[in-house]
Amino acid sequence: MVAADRQAGTGGYGSLNGTMQAFLSEVQKDLAQGMLSPRVLNDPDIHRAELDRIFTKCWVFVGHVSEIPSPGDYVLRYVGEDQFILARDEQGEIQLLLNNCVHRASPVCRAEKGNTSHFRCPYHGWIYKNSGEWNGAPHRAKAYRTIDTARWGLRKAPHVDSYQGLIFACLDPDAVPLREYLGDMCWYLDVIFGLNEQGMRAAGDPHRWIVPANWKSGAENFVGDAYHVQSAHSSLGDIGLIPDNSKSVTETFHIALEGGHGLIAIPKALPEPFGVGNYPPEVTSTFDLDRLDDDQRAFLESGYGVVGFTIFPNLSLFQAPGSTEVGGFPAVNTSLRQWQPRGPEQFELWNWPMVWNSAPPEFNQASYDAAVFSFGPSGVFEQDDTVVWRGGPMVGRSAFARQDMKLNFQMGLDGMSDYEPRPDWMGPGEASTSAFGERNQRRWWQRWSEALASS
Ligand code: FES
Ligand SMILES: [Fe+2]
Repeated sequence: MVAADRQAGTGGYGSLNGTMQAFLSEVQKDLAQGMLSPRVLNDPDIHRAELDRIFTKCWVFVGHVSEIPSPGDYVLRYVGEDQFILARDEQGEIQLLLNNCVHRASPVCRAEKGNTSHFRCPYHGWIYKNSGEWNGAPHRAKAYRTIDTARWGLRKAPHVDSYQGLIFACLDPDAVPLREYLGDMCWYLDVIFGLNEQGMRAAGDPHRWIVPANWKSGAENFVGDAYHVQSAHSSLGDIGLIPDNSKSVTETFHIALEGGHGLIAIPKALPEPFGVGNYPPEVTSTFDLDRLDDDQRAFLESGYGVVGFTIFPNLSLFQAPGSTEVGGFPAVNTSLRQWQPRGPEQFELWNWPMVWNSAPPEFNQASYDAAVFSFGPSGVFEQDDTVVWRGGPMVGRSAFARQDMKLNFQMGLDGMSDYEPRPDWMGPGEASTSAFGERNQRRWWQRWSEALASS
């Protein structure tokens, strides 16, 4: 159906055939009316086009600076379905190297993480520096007297950069700078991760598991779906873990940003002595809010927080007070979550609980425990979400559903619901008065369709 293959010899991303172009036009028309074809949730051609046009062109999260603090440190990571080595080289620069030897394509690194100055391919023994350069081969003097060593290094991502400790890479040589790509999301990353000089760190290795759903279901959920909490997560209300589950939609609201990025925000959740971000005094005393501008401080001092976001295409965040038992200490827990495509009908979920470098160990332990309890592989929220997302691949491949079924994205459109612009919002983006809307989700899908349609 689609000719999204790479054009031989051009290094380009291939062109879409007319049928796919027509489908994407239909998607854009449908979205304007709050509808979407279920085909987007399970289609091999769309999946191939996403790898070529989204994961090869957008800035994609690959890790946190705390995972590779020293020269030689490395971890294996993915952009789309391609495996890379994320390494800090001997000069301290961060590199993202395709983990395939340029001799016969064997993976040169088979450990998930470690520290090394060089990678030696297991097949014939070619050696590369951790900056990617070719550095030798067995019997070099007899076998490779005139090899162009500058030509035969590992393939490198042309752009790697970080913001507030989050490392992103872009495989497109013509990419805009990371800060431009993130746009107004930087303002919100500051109020989440920039509260002191020491910052946050990944609390160990990311947890990973396979989910039988399309990766886009996770991305669009975290960009704005507060409405599902009272239903999908109702059992947490039943057992008292969320004392008033209805507040999850009546008191939250949306912030829509350019570029398909979006957030779910919450008003202050906990009373004194809990302070900014709902942190207890032993943590807020380590913050230095002078690093922020007046509006950012006003956001925090008004008690607002970000409970979830998605940075297009596939990085999300969850942050909220939580506990592993009813009535337990409400420790704010923060998790970065990434929806890694693995074919059109399943994805790999990567989950990084994050803790403050400045916080007392007891608080960080409580925060980590709450993070695992909520959104770890067997987390009580996690199980609820991944069960309901299974429907996407089922209906996406259904010939009957493809005839004319549409999914409804109309909440918040044209007077449908209590969903107004929030007056005098202190931050960037368009804030709403409630979460009774699906504007953020529609914009995420709009960005998705534009990315697929672009040349
Ligand atoms: S495949 Fe790596 S050295 Fe031959
Ligand atoms: Fe959920």
